[in-house]
Amino acid sequence: MTIAAIRNLTVAFNRKPACRDIDLDLPAGRITVLVGRSGSGKTTLLRAVNRLNECLENSRTTGSVHLDLPSGPLDAYSPATDVENLRRRVGMVFQTPAVLPVSILRNFLLPLELTLSITGPEAKSRAETALRDVGLLDEVADRLDHDATTLSGGQQQRLCLARALALDPEILLLDEPTASVDHRSAEIIENLLRSLTPRLTLAVVSHSLRQARKLADRLLLMRDGRLVGAWDRETGDEAGLDALLDEAF
Ligand SMILES: Nc1ncnc2c1ncn2[C@@H]1O[C@H](COP(=O)(O)OP(=O)(O)O)[C@@H](O)[C@H]1O
Ligand SMILES: [Mg+2]
Repeated sequence: MTIAAIRNLTVAFNRKPACRDIDLDLPAGRITVLVGRSGSGKTTLLRAVNRLNECLENSRTTGSVHLDLPSGPLDAYSPATDVENLRRRVGMVFQTPAVLPVSILRNFLLPLELTLSITGPEAKSRAETALRDVGLLDEVADRLDHDATTLSGGQQQRLCLARALALDPEILLLDEPTASVDHRSAEIIENLLRSLTPRLTLAVVSHSLRQARKLADRLLLMRDGRLVGAWDRETGDEAGLDALLDEAF
C-alpha cells in the first residue's frame, strides 16, 4: 500500500532545479532510504513531503504529494491544506540535532502543548515513554530539568527523535539522522528505526553504505536532482542492492 504518492515534483531554488520531475511512491509501514552524492537533491526531496522547502527563500515547488495516511487522506500542496497539520502528521528529524535551549522535559512539553494541546501528567508520561523508546530514559531520568544542550551530540539526536515520536507522526522523515553522532548512538538509532515499522512509515536519507544496507526496504538513488535507480527488498536480490550502493558511494 502506498502512503505517499509524489508526482511530477520539481523544486527549484533561485530557478535552479534541485529536484526534477520526481515520481515516487512511499510504501506504508516500510523504510525507504535515499542515497546519492552531496548536492543530488536528497534533503530537498525529503523536505518537499511536508512542505518545509517553502520555509526557505527563493524556493518554488511544482507537482503534487498525495498522502493516504491512517488518519485520512491529505493533499499536501492543496491551498486548503493546513501546513501545521501536515507537519504534525509528517514529522522530521534533521541532520544536526535541533534541541530547544530549555530543559530536557520542556523539549517535549512545549511542542506537545503547542501542537496537540497535551499538558500535565499526560504530557510528562508521553515524554517518558518516548525517551524510553529511544533508550535515553535511564540516562536522563534524574535530570529531566537540566538544559537539553548539556547532553552529548548522540543524546541530543536521540532526544530529537523521541520528541518527534512523542507527537505521534504517521510518516517520519529523517535526514542523515546519524551523521553527527558516535557509533554507539548510531547503532541505537538504527535499531530503533527498524523497530518503528510497520507501525510507522519512514523515509531516511543516509550517508552511510552500511546503514543503507541495514535499513532499506526500498533504496532510491538520486543524481543531479533525479531519481536514477531503485531497489526493493521484496523483488530485488543482494547483487542488485550492491550494484546500486556501488553507484551511490
Ligand atoms: N536553501 C537553498 N538555497 C539555494 N540552493 C539550495 C538550497 N538548499 C539546497 N540548495 C541546492 O539544491 C541542490 C540540492 O541540495 P540538497 O537537497 O541539500 O542535496 P543533498 O541533500 O543531496 O546534499 C544543491 O545544488 C544545493 O546547493
Ligand atoms: Mg542533504
